[in-house]
Amino acid sequence: MNKVDLSVEAGPLKFRNPILLASGTVGYGNEMSEFIDLNTIGGIVTKSLSLKPRKGNPPQRIVETPSGMLNAIGLTNVGVEVFIKEKIPFLKKFDVPLICNIAASTIEEYVECTKILTIEDTIKAFEINVSCPNVKEGGLQFGNNVSAVGKITEKVKAVTDKPVIIKLSPNSSYISEFAKVVKDNGGDAVSAINTLVGTAFDIYTRRPKIKNVTAGLSGPAIKPVALAKVLEIRQKVDIPIIGIGGIMNWKDVVEFMITGASAIQIGTLNFINPGAATEIIKSLEEYCTKMGIERISQITGSYQI
Ligand SMILES: Cc1cc2nc3c(=O)[nH]c(=O)nc-3n(C[C@H](O)[C@H](O)[C@H](O)COP(=O)(O)O)c2cc1C
Repeated sequence: MNKVDLSVEAGPLKFRNPILLASGTVGYGNEMSEFIDLNTIGGIVTKSLSLKPRKGNPPQRIVETPSGMLNAIGLTNVGVEVFIKEKIPFLKKFDVPLICNIAASTIEEYVECTKILTIEDTIKAFEINVSCPNVKEGGLQFGNNVSAVGKITEKVKAVTDKPVIIKLSPNSSYISEFAKVVKDNGGDAVSAINTLVGTAFDIYTRRPKIKNVTAGLSGPAIKPVALAKVLEIRQKVDIPIIGIGGIMNWKDVVEFMITGASAIQIGTLNFINPGAATEIIKSLEEYCTKMGIERISQITGSYQI
């Protein structure tokens, strides 16, 4: 049998395989490059970037939970200027699609960040984070407002020729309404999902375990929720979906693709096993060979109900 074709497309985006690394879990790629060959993965998504550097929230910012973790980092990042000067030169060395994730407190800031970054050739697409649960301004204020998400999509698309992916929040009743407004305003794809709002208390001190009190839940605990959100979008809106949430192994990747994802992102797993992406790619190839699947893209949305 011929070699399996692992390449996938999500609208105008083309990836050599469906495995992307999720925003906030691999920084700007530097540390990750010690564990995996970045030239072999589908793509890398940067930590959310804002116009100015952000210190983020005070500690404690992370706590482990059953089958997951809570984080309230608060979008700590170097800002677009330092990113261009100090981080892009490193990323330029690799042949891997770089997707820049942008976070902002106002629609104007999203637009300004995109305008500044779009002239960088190394950046192949934007992922707009309208769904961070850990910041007071922006974040879910936008992510839970259908018309704001539509406006952000429209205004960002107006200042770049590069594909725009909108990263959706699971903290809404009907995620498909958000996917629809993204499509209607020219967005190229959606990624789903960002973290779920959660919290945890210390029973002895009666204080929250996280300084910010609430935080974003990620990891295997959220996988069934993420799959249901991907399925809802797939059934209601014709837009490419990048699936995220609790992916721990190659079987989870196949499950997300069957449910409707064109590609996926690995998040929390990178902290547990930074070499996981490489292992998953190899296993996906073996799965396809075993199942007689010539092109992995064929399985997207192939579920039977
Ligand atoms: C420590 C941490 C930091 C994160 N930072 C960001 C971020 O800056 N921007 C963003 O869009 N998502 C961020 N996320 C969300 C992930 O990209 C992903 O959507 C989420 O964790 C669900 O996937 P997972 O269960 O595989 O981790 C972060 C997640 C974690 C665990």
